[in-house]
Amino acid sequence: VTFTVKSTDGNATSPYAYGLMFEDINNSGDGGVYAELIQNRAFQGDGIYNKSITYWHSVGGTALSLANLSTPLSAELTSSLQVSGGSGKKVGVYNDGFWGFPAVAAWEYQGSFYVEGSLTGNVTVQLAGNYSKTLYAETSVAVASKAGAWTQYKYSFKPTHDAPNANNTLSFTWDASAAKGAVNFNLLSLFPPTYKNRPNGNRMDLMEAMADLKPSFFRAPGGNNIEGSKAPYWWNWTQTLGPLEHRAGFPGTWGYENTDGLGLLEYAIWADDIGMELLLGIWDGLYLDGTTLTLAELQPYIQSALDEIEFLTGDASTTWGAYRESLGHGPFPLNFVEIGNEDSLSDKNRTYPAYRFKAFYDAISAKYPDLTLISSYYDVDETTGQPPYNASGDFHEYATPVQMSQQFGYFDNYTSEHPLLIGEWAVIDYNIPGFNGPVWYAGAPRAYFPFWYGSVAEAVFLLGAERNSDKIIGAAYAPGFMNLNKWEWIPDNIAYDAYPGNTILSTSYYVIKLLANTRITENLPTTEAQLGPAFWVAGRNDKTGSHILKAAVYNSTGNVPFSFNFEGVGAGAVGQLTYLTAQNMNASSTIGNNIVQTHTQSVRANRNGYFNFALPDYSVAVFEVDAN
Ligand code: AHR
Repeated sequence: VTFTVKSTDGNATSPYAYGLMFEDINNSGDGGVYAELIQNRAFQGDGIYNKSITYWHSVGGTALSLANLSTPLSAELTSSLQVSGGSGKKVGVYNDGFWGFPAVAAWEYQGSFYVEGSLTGNVTVQLAGNYSKTLYAETSVAVASKAGAWTQYKYSFKPTHDAPNANNTLSFTWDASAAKGAVNFNLLSLFPPTYKNRPNGNRMDLMEAMADLKPSFFRAPGGNNIEGSKAPYWWNWTQTLGPLEHRAGFPGTWGYENTDGLGLLEYAIWADDIGMELLLGIWDGLYLDGTTLTLAELQPYIQSALDEIEFLTGDASTTWGAYRESLGHGPFPLNFVEIGNEDSLSDKNRTYPAYRFKAFYDAISAKYPDLTLISSYYDVDETTGQPPYNASGDFHEYATPVQMSQQFGYFDNYTSEHPLLIGEWAVIDYNIPGFNGPVWYAGAPRAYFPFWYGSVAEAVFLLGAERNSDKIIGAAYAPGFMNLNKWEWIPDNIAYDAYPGNTILSTSYYVIKLLANTRITENLPTTEAQLGPAFWVAGRNDKTGSHILKAAVYNSTGNVPFSFNFEGVGAGAVGQLTYLTAQNMNASSTIGNNIVQTHTQSVRANRNGYFNFALPDYSVAVFEVDAN
């Protein structure tokens, strides 16, 4: 392909072009990014998921049961683990963790637990191999607890050596003679060091992986998990704040109870810590079973959304801003609020366009006129009708590679009046011979993990979005994470288990990283646009002064030669080309085997100012050259 990148008639791009989306799915919060290592630490549950002592086991013949004491730990954490009986010098309990515990010698772990009942003596906490019984860490806590009162104890330890895997358990034991009758435990917690040493913080390696993508926005809480499976459960942000003792938990829509240890404030800090801006999802009166609230019933929830925005952005003179300050944080930047999630799919009676969207829109825009409000219908006009509604929409795209690769021009004719968020996207299947229809049919096949040609097809789609970046707010892959031991949705961008060495950054991760790390601030037209097998977008970055070409090759018959110049960049200029390939286009990365190959090369403009190079089939490239 041969073309010139013009130096005029460009469009300013969105500064939010690449971001992240997060909801607790696939144990991506609890057992994922949230660094808590003990599973079922506070015996939470409600009418959807029964409370239980799952993941806890007896040591030394103790009897374990779920207790509902007349003096619970708190009004929110009303059930506890009762331990009685047993004999010998070592009785107590052990926990499975989130399918194991990491033991890393370099880490100083911090833990705590509450006890009720008469226990006087040392509680030994051990991190040990569950088959080998290898001891990695041990500490002793002097306990003198009484019946009828809860006492908290803290502990810390540093393993003596690394464990080769996460097949480890954490035990709490004591001499049987130390207990008089049954003793009860609650909120048993253990954290490794967290990203930026945040108390109640996030897992370091996953945060570092996210930070490396240089994302600009953080759509959270996004997805179905905000909606709640049925009344009265919804992602009630007010219940996710303050001391962990007062967080009851939330019956997540993905089949498991959320501890709510990862709450609204933690989301905002997470965003801040890696340079993203929160794009807040608010609950809008829709439960996932299709139940919706009437206009009258909506009013307290509209107020709740206003309070939520005040919590994040208000100063200390406001009620909710003052509460946030009391929790130790100043206001957070907020420019985008999304009203609901996928109401276009779940709201069978169309109450969203009829009145729910407008009720939220009117109230929020009256108090916060500078916010961009996002409809969860991407066909914005369906929900907004005519001006003065000035909303954006949220487009979600889950597709096969061939579908994605055909969407380079998808946004070309979209209006810039309602810039779109691409709040979720992913290639979810391999190409299915003879099938090019919508992927959402019962029993549709799914890829287990992103695979190379799917990730290249995603690049084509993303370049199409970048090409229209005056109309697109930004794009976020979904879902972001999967725990390899338990997941509900595949494929996902990053996979992991309790062992830090097992984290897999997918092929899509590397494509996003390449595209998101080099930002075009002004798109510029090129003299030729060809819709495949080579796709490209070009422009410049006004901060670095560089000229940029981003390209992908999908399904060509061989290498594609590129020959192009940038108006204003002369002969002899030297640019840097980085491109990604994989040896097997069908393959996915696996534990310890990243299949993405990164190639770099310097390319000098010839005497006519043209840069020449060839890109292989199924490749994604970024070329950057300083102006000379
Ligand atoms: O990303 C997984 C799910 O896909 C989200 O929860 C939902 O918004 C979409 O249907």
